[in-house]
Amino acid sequence: MLKTNEIEPRHYRDAMARFAGAVHVVTTDGPAGKRGVTAIAACSVSDNPPTVLVCLNRENPSNDCFVENGVFALNTLAADHQELSNAFSGLTGLSPEERFAQARWETIATGAPTLSDALAVFDCHVVQTVELGTHRVYFGRVAGLSIGDKSSPLLYHERGYRVL
Ligand SMILES: Cc1cc2nc3c(=O)[nH]c(=O)nc-3n(C[C@H](O)[C@H](O)[C@H](O)COP(=O)(O)O)c2cc1C
Repeated sequence: MLKTNEIEPRHYRDAMARFAGAVHVVTTDGPAGKRGVTAIAACSVSDNPPTVLVCLNRENPSNDCFVENGVFALNTLAADHQELSNAFSGLTGLSPEERFAQARWETIATGAPTLSDALAVFDCHVVQTVELGTHRVYFGRVAGLSIGDKSSPLLYHERGYRVL
């Protein structure tokens, strides 16, 4: 049990570990290059106009291509995508090409890679970004959608993968 009003980053992270988050791979492609990043900091903003947001670390310069390309696809992972999540989290040391080679990809509307067997895909144009702390929040207007056949999501909770 911890109750405090002196909030250290580690307390914040410990409290946030109690969140059960859906795991996504956020992808982009365009003049600044192709990239994918595992992310749980993503959610719905509005259904009209259809808008989602995702928060990516802006201290990693490799993430600047999401701004420069102006597009991203939020690919919501299924329970059997744990290895894919690890590949795009950078933990396995794979090159970008090797990461994308782990799955089948298509495009829908923006040219960002969309995962063929995702639970759902939100293919977006970036309409606004906000820089706050270590992260940049990307607001994306959904220009293309896909709803897959799978239904069991991959979750992340208490610093580990969980399946519903
Ligand atoms: C389960 C999980 C969730 C993550 N969520 C986020 C996130 O929401 N935003 C973010 O910027 N990085 C997040 N990361 C870290 C990025 O995936 C990681 O920093 C990035 O893929 C490193 O890529 P690089 O090796 O190409 O630089 C998460 C990692 C894991 C394992």
